Amino acid sequence: MAERKTQPDTAEVAIGPVEESDLSWIVALDTQNTGMPKPDYWRRLLDGARTEPHRSFFLVARSQGTRLGFIAGEIRAWEFGSAPCGWIFAIGVEPDWRLRAVGTQLFDAICAGFRQAGVTKVRTMIAREAQLIMSFFRAHGMMAGPFVELEKDLDE
Ligand SMILES: CC(C)(COP(=O)(O)OP(=O)(O)OC[C@H]1O[C@@H](n2cnc3c(N)ncnc32)[C@H](O)[C@@H]1OP(=O)(O)O)[C@@H](O)C(=O)NCCC(=O)NCCS
Repeated sequence: MAERKTQPDTAEVAIGPVEESDLSWIVALDTQNTGMPKPDYWRRLLDGARTEPHRSFFLVARSQGTRLGFIAGEIRAWEFGSAPCGWIFAIGVEPDWRLRAVGTQLFDAICAGFRQAGVTKVRTMIAREAQLIMSFFRAHGMMAGPFVELEKDLDE
């Protein structure tokens, strides 16, 4: 985890919709965070956000032309019997800009978008061992919900 400061200063950012030219930066930052490049996945999310902006949210935080972080999610309804809610699929902040509330501002912005679109709940799913992202979401009041993920290996 990045070293924590006791008094984090807040970076001044402008948050806006993802742009076509952001794609390669997002793929690179996500690859750095997860170790797995997935350009097709990010392409699909970017296209979705541009074609369905009231349902699909993909935001980038910038400061003076520099990209600092992104967040992506969408409103989904009735899958697994779940009433409409906002799902956050991914968040990433440039390592040099962490602990300056960039992630917080991205989280607040996507939640504002979800609220504006009429939903009153936000959800995400994270790996149990992902402590950093767990601390981040917990700090924003996210708690274990009523659904449980089940899985099994499929035999060949
Ligand atoms: C998680 C992440 C988005 C946080 O972004 P950030 O801009 O540094 O977050 P903020 O400064 O807004 O921090 C908000 C709160 O989250 C928690 N937090 C953030 N970084 C933390 C850390 N290194 N250790 C413990 N808690 C932390 C704190 O409670 C913090 O509030 P505080 O500083 O007032 O205590 C960023 O660290 C990141 O991109 N990590 C990699 C993410 C990743 O792996 N994504 C792939 C899966 S989606």
